[in-house]
Amino acid sequence: MVPRPGRLGAGAVGDLGREWQYAGHLSQLDEPGRYVVADVAGRDVLVLVGSDGDLRAFHNVCLHRAGPLVWDREGRCGNLVCRYHGWAYDLEGRLRSARDFGDVDGFDPEAFTLPRFGWRPGEAWCS
Ligand code: FES
Repeated sequence: MVPRPGRLGAGAVGDLGREWQYAGHLSQLDEPGRYVVADVAGRDVLVLVGSDGDLRAFHNVCLHRAGPLVWDREGRCGNLVCRYHGWAYDLEGRLRSARDFGDVDGFDPEAFTLPRFGWRPGEAWCS
């Protein structure tokens, strides 16, 4: 993949196509919980700094019934709590609580970890 000259590659989301996708600048992602949401091919991609400081990218979609995980285009959160029914994910995308599902036979929260996009954070560059 060859980035197109003149476009800022910082925070780019790769592996979604043949071109880099601009998600945000790394200065927006400078501490755990900071996030940006980018429109990539018509889908909201949430790029988030985990509690370990690593960047991760997820669909901005809850695994319960597809509510958005965050509503703002950028911000900071302690964890990801869906407003619809309260499912809560940690900053690494692991389901930590699923309201009303605690005692359901066979319900395994580990089966509901948010799938990650394969991506590479880009370097800031321009020409
Ligand atoms: S859609 Fe997210 S908790 Fe139900």
